Amino acid sequence: MKIVDRETGKRLKEVDPVKANVEKDAEISEGELSPMDPPDAYSSYASIEVENDKMDESLMQFKKEHENLTEVLEVFEKAIHEFKELGYVLNNNINDGFKKFFDFFDNDLLPHNRKEEKVLFPVLQKALLKNNEHGTGKKPVTAVDIMEDDHVKFIQLGSLTFNLLGLAPRFRDEQSKLFTYDVAYNSAKELIEMIRLHIFREDNTLFPLAQKYISQKEFEQICLEMNMHENEDIESTHHDHNHDHDHHHHH
Ligand SMILES: [Fe+2]
Ligand SMILES: [Fe+2]
Repeated sequence: MKIVDRETGKRLKEVDPVKANVEKDAEISEGELSPMDPPDAYSSYASIEVENDKMDESLMQFKKEHENLTEVLEVFEKAIHEFKELGYVLNNNINDGFKKFFDFFDNDLLPHNRKEEKVLFPVLQKALLKNNEHGTGKKPVTAVDIMEDDHVKFIQLGSLTFNLLGLAPRFRDEQSKLFTYDVAYNSAKELIEMIRLHIFREDNTLFPLAQKYISQKEFEQICLEMNMHENEDIESTHHDHNHDHDHHHHH
């Protein structure tokens, strides 16, 4: 399974999971793919099949957290759609959806990402490099590098969306307000899609790779550190967003 190009070390386009698997089978040339029928980034070709009962409990915990995130994403997506349909007028339902998402973003998603970065990624990075699961560029790039990259983009796009939603109502000019809401809507949609694809890649590619290359002993250490990390994160302060009041940037 490769989600980086071995030649350049660069991240393959969104079609990468397809390419990743067909490289061993017949090569599909770009020309054969109709623009009307783009390869699905979520194609089952991307998956490495691992039964849940064969996955380490640390990976199962991360997967569980992804399920919670997916539920909140659905609530947020419904809210942002309704908001647009109503011509960008807030109601309680929309407001609750926004609040739920941004609270979850700060209090659950960011800690989840930090936990992956601190506890799982360093061990997995070593294992991937050792087993040649990386690009062949000057600097070897692995699936872990790409997932870390995604985490940074979440923060950027999440902050942008949050700030645009706070900025828009301050315009007196109706057109500027609607334009800003449109930009906020688009960045929210992009964020939702990006997070969904990230979850898909971790569940179906990264975690199976981890299961394959990380030893039982290492997993035991990972589980220990996960529990320690959990307690540290609970001690840190929780943020609270309120979207019907003026707000400032929260990070
Ligand atoms: Fe992640
Ligand atoms: Fe994750």
